[in-house]
Amino acid sequence: MSSYTIDTSTSRATPTPAPMKRLTVPAVRARKGGEPLVMLTAYTVRMAQLLDPHCDMLLVGDSLGQVIYGLPSTIPVSLEMMCAHGAAVVRGSWHSLVIVDMPFGSYEASPAAAFASAARVMKETGAAAVKLEGGEAMAETIAFLSARGVPVMAHVGLTPQAVNQLGGYGARGRSEAEADRILKDARAVADAGCFAMVVEGVIEPIAEAITRAVACPTIGIGASAHCDGQVLVAEDMLGLFERVPRFVRRYDDMAGRISGAAERFAADVRARDFPSSEQTYAIKP
Ligand code: KIV
Repeated sequence: MSSYTIDTSTSRATPTPAPMKRLTVPAVRARKGGEPLVMLTAYTVRMAQLLDPHCDMLLVGDSLGQVIYGLPSTIPVSLEMMCAHGAAVVRGSWHSLVIVDMPFGSYEASPAAAFASAARVMKETGAAAVKLEGGEAMAETIAFLSARGVPVMAHVGLTPQAVNQLGGYGARGRSEAEADRILKDARAVADAGCFAMVVEGVIEPIAEAITRAVACPTIGIGASAHCDGQVLVAEDMLGLFERVPRFVRRYDDMAGRISGAAERFAADVRARDFPSSEQTYAIKP
């Protein structure tokens, strides 16, 4: 059992004794073109503990809106939700770099607004970096944050917070104009100083072109094997949902296993087979 304390020099929660050192932003950046980077989403302390030893980065994604809260999109997700889940994931991890998504409405208005939101996220969670969606339009904000001690992971291609503008979650970059736009976006956020970028839902040649064009690592989701790393929503790869997007490989059938366990529990209770003497407190002799 590890007990977690805040390391005041880094503001990161670390267990005592520390089993291994937490990855840093420069260490992740230095992995460009090297061993592929592994990132999974995590929203809770227990999932963080289980995923952390296998990952380089844990992303507290605003996908928690749909996965945890049953919301129809990421649009309603609040800064409060991101801070609460971000803090839980930092408490549950010691090895991975933890990155917290900036929710819709918390950063777009101005670089100063973005800094206030990012500072709150970093203070309240102990996470070392934030992620925000957008290309050229966000370049000034990324430069502003990066110059003020906030490492930024960018997110280009399919940007789910723009679902109302995009009209859905289909793969991006099928037309030449859209492909050029996405490549320009990637170049702009890289030049602005992001330490890594998520490339989501783009056709293979765009992912390849972006990865070749930018100096920071690209982390793909539905963006082919050409990226410097890969990310998935953990619940997708664990098989917690019936619907499996094309870009997901399922590594388990958690939905089936949870449902099966609940079915067996219900049967045992109804048959008065649970609890048995093994699960019952008896009078001490
Ligand atoms: O919110 C999220 O989980 C994400 C990943 C899918 C990249 O942004």
